[in-house]
Order: sequence, then structure tokens, then C-alpha cells
Amino acid sequence: MKHFLSIEKLTRAEILDLLESARGYKATRGKSDSRPLQGQTWALLFNKPSTRTRVSFEVGIREFAGGVMFLSQGDIQLGRGEPIRDTARVLGRMVHGAVIRTFAQNDVEEFARYSGIPTINALTDEEHPCQIIADLLTIFEKRGTLEDLKVCFIGDGDCNVARSWIWAAERLGFELRITAPANYQPSPDFKRRITNPKIYFPRVAAEGAAGVSVLYTDVWVSMGKEVESAQRLSDLAQFQINRELLQAAAPGALVLHCLPAYRGKEITEEILEAHAQTIFDQAENRLHAQKAILAGVVR
Ligand code: CP
Ligand code: NVA
Repeated sequence: MKHFLSIEKLTRAEILDLLESARGYKATRGKSDSRPLQGQTWALLFNKPSTRTRVSFEVGIREFAGGVMFLSQGDIQLGRGEPIRDTARVLGRMVHGAVIRTFAQNDVEEFARYSGIPTINALTDEEHPCQIIADLLTIFEKRGTLEDLKVCFIGDGDCNVARSWIWAAERLGFELRITAPANYQPSPDFKRRITNPKIYFPRVAAEGAAGVSVLYTDVWVSMGKEVESAQRLSDLAQFQINRELLQAAAPGALVLHCLPAYRGKEITEEILEAHAQTIFDQAENRLHAQKAILAGVVR
């Protein structure tokens, strides 16, 4: 695995291998002197804000004995229009790997192509692959298995996190219900690429949640969609994780949220706080998952 650009591009074996590796890094944190990035400097290029992804990569790279520099768009010439391929060719001669958060998926792929160095997608408009590795790790820890998994993703079913969930279900074969209004579903062209018959697109919240083992949500207004805020909050109002929805899920269902959470919007304060242990374990798992991804691309 030279790059980590999307869940779509991974095989089932690669996903399972990353989960195994992340569990190992979690179990041995502070006890092992694994230094896979010794002597390396990594660049984090972020064109959107981040708490979890930025901090987990910075800590992970340092714990692997690497150096790290954070470059926001405003810090570098990319922000003044220097093409991504030129930025990539310069950085490729100076640093050993790059972690990129931006808008277009194509930009991350172009960076990978032109830089020649390991490149990791830290979120684009199309996918949030790092998030899904941490999510699957959390589900595995809480349930002890990924067998018989039924996941309901509720909210903006066409956002990056929902799309990465679709590819995870496609590769691992579990049941996934992308529960969203018609205008918040992936396009027909996108849906045609799906082969797992257990990926459904219910448009009624209670139908999507019925009997599931995991209820999952993400913000209703993704980064870059702020101008649509009022419309989105109104369109998605019936697609909230609340007490009533949770009652439709299987007994003991997990509630997950990639965070940041907007209480009273995609999830109620009550349910978020009742499931905070799981949700913040999920956030912590970003660190262990990033280490597995970093080790995977430099192996
Ligand atoms: N879940 C997630 O990616 O959080 P940040 O935007 O804070 O990195
Ligand atoms: N879908 C969200 C994920 C945030 C981690 C966004 O793109 O803003």
C-alpha cells in the first residue's frame, strides 16, 4: 500500500490488516520502541479545519520518531494559486510523506502521482477513509467481531463519511443502510458502482434504524457547504439520532459519531452524553488507526 487515498481503493485484506495493526499499536502504546518514521519528515497540508485528524497524525508521526510540519493553505503558495502538481513535485524532493485534507479528491490523487511520496487522504469532499478505519476498530472492540454487522448511517447520505462507509460495506460485505432524504443520497451513477446487495437507501429514519447494531451520524453541514446551512438543517430535521430512533435499533446498539457533534441537530444532547464513552473511544482510536495507516504506507 504505497498511498492511502480512499476506502474504495483498498481490498478486504488491506482493511483487515490495518485493523489488526491498529489494535497492536493501541495495545503497545508507550511500551514498544517501534520507530518506522525515524529520520523522516512528514508534511500535513490542510485546507480545512481539523482537531482529531490533525492532532492524531501529529502525535502518531512523533511517536513513530518522525518529524512533522503543519502547512495550512494560507502558509504556502498553493493558497495563491501554485498548482498542486508543482507543490507535489517540490515537496516530493524534500519530505518523506504527506497527509492532505482538502476539497477535491482529484487533488490528493494528483499530489500522490506527482510527488512520488506516500500520500494519505485526511478527508476530501468524496471520502474520509482514515475515519472509517477508526470506526471499524471501535465497533470491533465493542462487539468483539465484525460479523453480522448492521449499520445505519443517518443524515447526509452523500457526504464523505457516508461514502467511505459504503465502500467499507462493499469490501467487507456487511449490511449498511444509508438513511437520508432523496436529495442527500449518492447519485445514481455512484450507486451503480455498488455490488453488495445489503447496502440499502431508506428514506424514512425509523426504517433505516430498525434492528441495527450501530447507529452512526455525521454533521449535517459538512465543511464547504456552509452556504446551504439553513436548507440542510430544515431538510435533515427528521434524520436525527434521538431517544425514539434508538428505540428502533437492536437492544444494546452502539451509537457512533465521527465528531464534531452539533447537539440538537444530528444528535440530541441526551443520546450523545449517554454514549460519550463509545464516541470518545472512537475519537481516541483515530490515533491508533493513523499509526496503522502510516506504518502501512512506509512498509
Ligand atoms: N472526525 C474528524 O475528522 O474530526 P476533525 O475534523 O476534527 O479532524
Ligand atoms: N462530513 C464532515 C466530516 C467532518 C469530520 C465534513 O466534511 O465536514
